[in-house]
Amino acid sequence: MATDADRPPQVSSGQIATVRRWLSAAKNLMVITGAGVSAESGVPTFRTADGLWRQFNPMDYATPEAFHQDPVKVWQWYDARRQGIVAAEPNAAHRALARLEEQGKTVFIVTQNVDDLHERAGSKQVIHLHGSIWRLRCERDGNVVENREAPLIEMPPTCFCGEVMRPDIVWFGEALPWRPLQQIEDYLLKGPVDLCLVIGTEASFGYIIELAVQAREHGARLVDINPRLTDLGKMADVQLPGKAGEVLADLLSSQP
Ligand code: OAD
Repeated sequence: MATDADRPPQVSSGQIATVRRWLSAAKNLMVITGAGVSAESGVPTFRTADGLWRQFNPMDYATPEAFHQDPVKVWQWYDARRQGIVAAEPNAAHRALARLEEQGKTVFIVTQNVDDLHERAGSKQVIHLHGSIWRLRCERDGNVVENREAPLIEMPPTCFCGEVMRPDIVWFGEALPWRPLQQIEDYLLKGPVDLCLVIGTEASFGYIIELAVQAREHGARLVDINPRLTDLGKMADVQLPGKAGEVLADLLSSQP
């Protein structure tokens, strides 16, 4: 027999009212997003039950070693993901964040996602911490190009210098690129940050938790939106246990 303990947690109207109040007062937001924000667009996540890392070993697809060993295998995998992303549409969560910016708020999005759904929804300030699936990089001469072919015409794609290009994505064992880190630091230093929304990430990397901690040190209240209670969710001022699109639509809708 089902008991209360079996039911998934529900977002309470009190929590929604509190976060609505914070949201309407906030001028400067930092929004940290992960794969969960694109889940309702049909883009797969990584670590959930049906996530990519449950079907594919990341060491075979998301490391420099895997790429050097078999660039075509790695590129075919990314090419399939590119085709999925190009067919996907921004969902209610992406659109809600873009709407907040239209309302005159500063909405500084730090995403771990390599898709472009935030930009396609209309968000203007999007920092891609893990790179972009639409950029190709040559490891020999550092040349970076945007390429939106889906499927790719040349497999594997090559640079004009003759070298095979790689996805401009941060792989396991690689350092984060300096430019996004600098942009984040600049935003935090300008401060204050009124509200930090963390949406759809497992926050399995220490630097994501660190970012939320820094936003809080710069004045932000911390709100986590995720059906699952993650370690970061446990630190939040409010944890909203729901789907990103539904919760954000609720937060932005007029008062009941
Ligand atoms: P994960 O797949 O690790 O976590 C996705 C999170 O989204 C989980 O906590 C889910 O509970 C949550 N989630 C699922 N559906 C959701 C929904 N509709 N609304 C809100 N939340 C939902 O993805 P990330 O944390 O983004 O790196 O993973 C971080 C990085 O690990 C990725 O950027 C990727 C991967 O290796 C690279 O590709 C470089």
